[in-house]
Amino acid sequence: MKFSKSILGLAIAGAMSVSAVQAGEVEVLHWWTSGSEARSIAVLKQMVEAEGHTWKDFAVAGGAGENAYTVLRSRAVSGNPPASAQIKGLEIQEWGDLGFLANLDDVAAANHWDDVLPPVVAKVMKNDGHYVAAPVNVHRVNWLWANPEVFKKAGAKVPTSLDELWVAADKIKAAGYTAIAHGGQPWQDATTFESIVLAVGGSDFFDKVFVKLDQKALGSDTMKESFDQFRKVKQYIDAGSPGRDWNVATAMVIKGEAGMQFMGDWAKGEFTAANKAPGKDFICAAFPGTDGEFTFNIDSLAMFKQKNADNAEAQKVMAKLILSPKFQETFNLNKGSIPVRIDQDMSPFDSCAEASMKTFIATSKAGKGLEPSMAHGMSTTSTVQGAMYDVITEFFNSDMSSEDAVKKLTRSVKAAM
Ligand code: GAL
Repeated sequence: MKFSKSILGLAIAGAMSVSAVQAGEVEVLHWWTSGSEARSIAVLKQMVEAEGHTWKDFAVAGGAGENAYTVLRSRAVSGNPPASAQIKGLEIQEWGDLGFLANLDDVAAANHWDDVLPPVVAKVMKNDGHYVAAPVNVHRVNWLWANPEVFKKAGAKVPTSLDELWVAADKIKAAGYTAIAHGGQPWQDATTFESIVLAVGGSDFFDKVFVKLDQKALGSDTMKESFDQFRKVKQYIDAGSPGRDWNVATAMVIKGEAGMQFMGDWAKGEFTAANKAPGKDFICAAFPGTDGEFTFNIDSLAMFKQKNADNAEAQKVMAKLILSPKFQETFNLNKGSIPVRIDQDMSPFDSCAEASMKTFIATSKAGKGLEPSMAHGMSTTSTVQGAMYDVITEFFNSDMSSEDAVKKLTRSVKAAM
């Protein structure tokens, strides 16, 4: 059979356009700037570049993303949002409802996201039933990180209840160390406070206060007791605490200047980056009084609608890579978190990650004890979260009574709902 030259030419051109990779660009907004965080996100950059696409890094420093969110809003308002941004929890819904986010259903279907993601994770990634974000990890928030050497020198034991916590803190302080390494920033105050609420009131109470925003629970004696306990933290922090970044506080524990830190397991990323081993150089334990409970914080990259087809393609490639077992393993080993895939091989992970996974699975199966973190945007809108941050931080930095804090919190939450 003979083909005319022009038909042959068309056929060749067609075949080429199918196989040729069109390089696109993904601009990624995030706030992962500490040593371990930068190492973690670099993994995605390398993988995206290995696929022939360009990575445009848009890092905005500031723990928990307060600054990054402000920058994202101004970029979106001017009609020029980045291809992707690390946004989480209900914030994903807010952007989705405004019509900014791209539909990832085809990537999700081709890669079986519904089968490999736990329902609690998948739910957060969807807006109106459609995937609009890709989850990178699950962080557990209610952790305590301890320096065993400092505990030993102080004759203190790792606390398993709030009462034991204050006993240990007294001993560490008396031995001349900073007992609690704390960074005085609103989100860090809130991170500690919500763990205390969980310890004092349990997970059902936590749910009423931070998820259901139940006025009675917010105004209860249990809440007052939580503020009383929170106040005690102040006796054990150092004068350099105000404004301190979380990773600087972690470094105090790593170096043996402080006994412990209350922080999500991104802190473990810093221990790992400093070549410290769990059980030997540092100890991970549930925040005192919250063993068997899990406050979760899921990091995710939401995808914004793209005008350029090549960039949209690059964005989909990135979404696919994020869920790949290889990315999940390397990223989470660096980040301190656990992978999102239920079929992930956990053998490369350390004992803290194993404990986290075990509690995550047990609480999700039991339908009890797995709670979304308020401090990390998983349980409420950003408006309610902001109202809570304000009261918690004002209380911590003034002589406001616990009674007044409870009243103020109840009123502010109501106004923000
Ligand atoms: C959290 C975030 C973590 C970590 C931390 C400190 O909100 O989920 O990935 O980056 O802030 O910045």
